[in-house]
Amino acid sequence: MLRLDTTFNICLEDGKKKEKIIYDSEKMVVIGEMIGNIAHQWRQPLTVISAGATGILMQKEYNILDDEKLEKACNSINENAQYLSETIDTFRNFIKEEKVLKEVVIQDRINKALGIVETTLKSKLITLENNINYDVPIKATIVLGELEQVIINIINNAKDILVEKETENGTVTINLEEKDNKAIVTIQDNAGGIPEDIIDKIFDLYFTTKGDDSGTGLGLHMSKKIMIESIKGDLYVENTNDGAKFFLEIPLN
Ligand SMILES: Nc1ncnc2c1ncn2[C@@H]1O[C@H](COP(=O)(O)OP(=O)(O)OP(=O)(O)O)[C@@H](O)[C@H]1O
Ligand SMILES: [Mg+2]
Repeated sequence: MLRLDTTFNICLEDGKKKEKIIYDSEKMVVIGEMIGNIAHQWRQPLTVISAGATGILMQKEYNILDDEKLEKACNSINENAQYLSETIDTFRNFIKEEKVLKEVVIQDRINKALGIVETTLKSKLITLENNINYDVPIKATIVLGELEQVIINIINNAKDILVEKETENGTVTINLEEKDNKAIVTIQDNAGGIPEDIIDKIFDLYFTTKGDDSGTGLGLHMSKKIMIESIKGDLYVENTNDGAKFFLEIPLN
């Protein structure tokens, strides 16, 4: 009897150990994913911060730095640094079992995302056509920060393709409408669209056409995961006559 019990105990201990190993390795995967996502979202703001500081130094050296330029550059550095810190909170929240939900105004969230990509778009001479109606606030209950990450990823992709194709009058158009108790944000570019042979793969993990140095293939995969698993909405794409058009569906309260 005693021996049996001991064996049983050993089995139990073994089982627990195995469970712990599985739990630990799952945790490692999640942590790895979180670090990957943060690194992905940090690349652009870090570039903006470093370019902003370099710009100030250069202008000072050539004696062309006035108060207005200094203030603008410092504000941009601050805004982007703030975003770096928020990104960590967003992904921490993303992997939590108990999500912290907040009622937000979708227009405000879009503006926040546009604030981050604005400088980069301007530097590439890309026009941002913002057709959003700010009069009637559209409210949803979501995790703070996630929708912004998705919008930033999609606009960055539009920027990349507009630059790659050297599109004349490169434009990113953003719209927002309310339909069937859903908010639908659309983000469209005029870079010619996504080739039919890859359109079904662009949301796959690590799918990229940009080469190792400039693309990881994480952006759209992560965006779709956020839209479906966390926001409980949807993300899909269609080609129009001008280019790619991404649809972000967000369920409303
Ligand atoms: N607006 C677009 N027009 C044309 N092709 C696009 C557009 N957006 C995405 N793609 C295609 O989808 C692929 C996957 O995009 P995704 O954002 O997931 O990765 P990436 O931009 O290549 O790399 P990463 O975002 O990780 O740096 C891109 O490499 C590109 O081929
Ligand atoms: Mg991308």
